[in-house]
Amino acid sequence: MPFDIQQIRAQFPALSLEDGGVPRIYLDNPAGTQVPKRVIERTSEYMIRMNANHGGPFRTSQDSDALSAEAHRAAAELLNAPSPEEIVFGANMTTLTFAISRSLGHWLKPGDEIILTRMDHDANVNPWRLLAEDLGLEVKWLSFNRETYQYDLDELERLISRRVKLLAVNYASNALGTINDVKTISSMARAVGALTYVDAVQYVPHGPTDVQALGCDFLACSVYKFFGGHQGILWGRGELLEALPAYKVRPAEDHGPGKFETGTQSFEGQAGALGAIEYLAWLGEQARDIYRQPFGHFSGRQQNIHTAMAAIKAYEKLLSAHLIKGLQAISGVTVHGITDPGQFDKRVPTVTFTREGFSPADIARRLAAENIFVWDGDYYAVEVVKHLGLAESGGMVRVGPVHYNTIAELDRLLEVVREM
Ligand SMILES: Cc1ncc(COP(=O)(O)O)c(C=O)c1O
Repeated sequence: MPFDIQQIRAQFPALSLEDGGVPRIYLDNPAGTQVPKRVIERTSEYMIRMNANHGGPFRTSQDSDALSAEAHRAAAELLNAPSPEEIVFGANMTTLTFAISRSLGHWLKPGDEIILTRMDHDANVNPWRLLAEDLGLEVKWLSFNRETYQYDLDELERLISRRVKLLAVNYASNALGTINDVKTISSMARAVGALTYVDAVQYVPHGPTDVQALGCDFLACSVYKFFGGHQGILWGRGELLEALPAYKVRPAEDHGPGKFETGTQSFEGQAGALGAIEYLAWLGEQARDIYRQPFGHFSGRQQNIHTAMAAIKAYEKLLSAHLIKGLQAISGVTVHGITDPGQFDKRVPTVTFTREGFSPADIARRLAAENIFVWDGDYYAVEVVKHLGLAESGGMVRVGPVHYNTIAELDRLLEVVREM
């Protein structure tokens, strides 16, 4: 085991809750995770000791600003951003993406092409589709293979040309669980002078993220999907953020993240984000040394964070294997994603399935009756469900374990689905 799972679970107060003596089993994590004590402490410490607006000469405001700066530093370490100045906090990934898409619109003109994908959550589709409508851009679609659940990079090669100015792609799918080769995709975009905007919401909770190694231009994620509160984070390449015009009020800062952090920020949310990243650093300290070895180029907290994510990835591979094998053994079940254990490096443990004779909503309700939390439908992955031909039949059931879930919890879910 990469870490002591009971020690991990003890950090999350919500995991020990029961209703009428029945434990809660949280497998709704792709829609939002539970939070460790560190997040609760950081958030309540903020509210008690430093609750104030930005930029004042007095104690609470100065402490609040120092906390916010530390949250930016921690987020930069999590994503390996070259500077905390490249970290923009915001309400959520969707709002940040709408904002940056409007700014990027200043650099685009009618007839320019953008590439969107059939695998993305609508938050990385519709901001760009609407921008294309506003500006007369041409949208090209990168599909995915319905058998491999992956992009065909030859298809991307055919779509991409000097006319393409932007490519919006997901790092991991919230519906298929596929991890995409964002490094190769970004380099293909760069070769024709196009920018890459990466939706990493579903990858960041599951593995080490390194924007410099990926070579993308923007990467967005959501803190509440990686054990913090409801907040979004956008990383943008420094020179791009500096050059991009921002929709902002005049007194707000003209440089750095403040330019895009419009209005008064949720500083308690940033405190929670800091707490979530500190929790990951703590987990990294507990993890076995083999997970640390690839991160010799980092030190201190940053090394611990990335070690934690490597350990999480290794543990979650065991969860994926157990869950997929168990689902496939149930009659009438189809898993819609990578099922070959040899390819589990290419997936996160988010697993979607359908079962003949049962609607996804019925299965989710049956599980809810046993206090097992899962989602059904399209979870805003509109294009994925359409492309799989499942839009009319209620989509799929989504089981989304994270590193605090156990094999025993998955067994309980499998038992209920089997007995339906
Ligand atoms: C892949 C993906 N992208 C984007 C989003 C939207 O994130 P937010 O709620 O932070 O706007 C989600 C939320 O479920 C998601 O799963």
